[in-house]
Amino acid sequence: MLGMLCHYTKKDLQILTLGALLHDLGKIAIPEEILTKNTGLTDEEFAVIKAHPLRGAQRIHEMENMLPHTALLSAIASEHHEHIDGSGYPRGLKDEEIHRYAKIVAIADVYDALTSERPYKKAYTPNVAHNIMCNVIRGQFDPKLLNLFFNNVALYPVGTILKTDYGFGIVKKSAFGKTETPTIVVFANMEGRPIEPYTIDLSTVEDGNHKIHIVVSDNDLRHFIHNLAFDPSVYLK
Ligand SMILES: [Fe+2]
Repeated sequence: MLGMLCHYTKKDLQILTLGALLHDLGKIAIPEEILTKNTGLTDEEFAVIKAHPLRGAQRIHEMENMLPHTALLSAIASEHHEHIDGSGYPRGLKDEEIHRYAKIVAIADVYDALTSERPYKKAYTPNVAHNIMCNVIRGQFDPKLLNLFFNNVALYPVGTILKTDYGFGIVKKSAFGKTETPTIVVFANMEGRPIEPYTIDLSTVEDGNHKIHIVVSDNDLRHFIHNLAFDPSVYLK
């Protein structure tokens, strides 16, 4: 996202950073038992949750003497759950009505929620979060900002083990704008048997992103490495 933000002044970025840190301030008014509930929320409980953006904005206004740019900081707090298709809360604002900073924080906030463990779910991997945000709930986000975000966030972080058309490989590099097609070192065939390792940049092959079948999960990795009898991370050195 830095590419698009480079024309912003240092002061703009400081406001955005501070706004991102304070965006959920209103949650301090939500009882702990609602925040950590691992079953469905009642309508009343959801109404309490839905009040946190405006409560946060209000608290920021109350700190006018201590905080700079409270109008912008409170816009981020009050609008970070608005969706560009109008399906968000608390006001159901649409695209142009939502402050750009709030749109940026909304993307980071949802990504953080999806990739973090919660009382009701495990943490998703970055590529699963990407899939959900770009396909399942795409209408919530500004498409250009969403694209920029995932141009910068590694969908397959360095060290991730992938099963691909070429066999098993370990991610060696993830480059800006090519996060769907990392460079991997292929070290085992499709059956998981070791082969002479070689490096391939998936961004240079046709439909490189479709060559990836699955991410080998932490659960499977222990057995996989045990059967392999060596640690593939040696190819990252
Ligand atoms: Fe929130």
